[in-house]
Amino acid sequence: MAIISDDNLQFGKEKKTVNSAVKNPNIKSEFIEYDKTFENSIRPKSFADYIGQSELKETLKVILEAAKKRGKPLDHMLFYGPPGLGKTTIAGVIASQMGVEIKITSAPALERPRDIIGILMSLKGGEILFIDEIHRLNRVAEEILYPAMEDFSLDMTTGKSQTAKTLRVPIPKFTLIGATTKAGELSAPLRDRFGMLHRLEFYSTEELSQVVERTAKILEIEITKEGSKAIAKRSRGTPRIANRLIKRVSDFAIVKYDGIIDEKIANESLDILKIDEFGLDTTDRALLNLIINKYDGGPVGVETIAAALSEDTRTIEEVCEPYLLQAGLLQRTPRGRKVSPEGYRHLGYKPPSEQTTLF
Ligand code: ADE
Repeated sequence: MAIISDDNLQFGKEKKTVNSAVKNPNIKSEFIEYDKTFENSIRPKSFADYIGQSELKETLKVILEAAKKRGKPLDHMLFYGPPGLGKTTIAGVIASQMGVEIKITSAPALERPRDIIGILMSLKGGEILFIDEIHRLNRVAEEILYPAMEDFSLDMTTGKSQTAKTLRVPIPKFTLIGATTKAGELSAPLRDRFGMLHRLEFYSTEELSQVVERTAKILEIEITKEGSKAIAKRSRGTPRIANRLIKRVSDFAIVKYDGIIDEKIANESLDILKIDEFGLDTTDRALLNLIINKYDGGPVGVETIAAALSEDTRTIEEVCEPYLLQAGLLQRTPRGRKVSPEGYRHLGYKPPSEQTTLF
């Protein structure tokens, strides 16, 4: 009955998801088609190895210990926040710390009722089901999930209309971990069924330096402390980006230099990759430039921005904007997006408030 084979759902293997973003040639491919095999090979498996999100780690340690002592499965959990901050990674850490299997899927892959039913029926007691992009779950799948989450049962309907009967089928007690970049788009009944909701935060430069150092060690790349910091500074507060950059910089170091990454080599390589001191790439700068030069600094709607940049609205909203907002370069207003005075300065323009008019 399971539509997605167990093999594809094991943690550490390739996720099998239907991700419409992958099919869209306009999407920032480096974020969407990021090498999952590489990502999985460097994923931390324990709290000790997992850098950052210290508040979350401390809370989880207590929750996990309590569940182990009670001999009960963990409460359902929802992790939300921008992409690349480690929502899947922390779910994997939870599974290995509990000593249970995790099955990973994504809401767009649960299109038909039998997709979600199959996966729920394949779970064993205590196992974790991870659903990425859970805000994209369709209504039918959501309604199948409610009794599964609440009473560990599936309501199956047999027969038609007046003779229809609902049968309650018990399923093993499992833990659902949902992840989303858009918590606000989750329906209230689904949101309410999670026992814990947690927002993942952007990482500090210090934390990202540690991520870079850890990955460099695993990949046997030589890097100095200053080199790690230079990469960390341009990683937009995001470990996934830090890990991508260390690989790209190391390619430069091997081809152009003697292989050891120091601050100078890191900065030179990132300049060549067109990643600036704030970690902004060509698309981020194009977005700010567009608003400044075509829309007088804003406000302008996100659909207009996406169309002008030939990007997908979701990519703009979920990938570009969170960091631009967090870095204070962009502002969100009820009438649309505006570039902040810092955003103007970052691109070498004078903010309108500092421009002198003749009359
Ligand atoms: N790689 C990606 N995220 C990480 C994290 N939080 N800690 C260690 N390595 C990571």
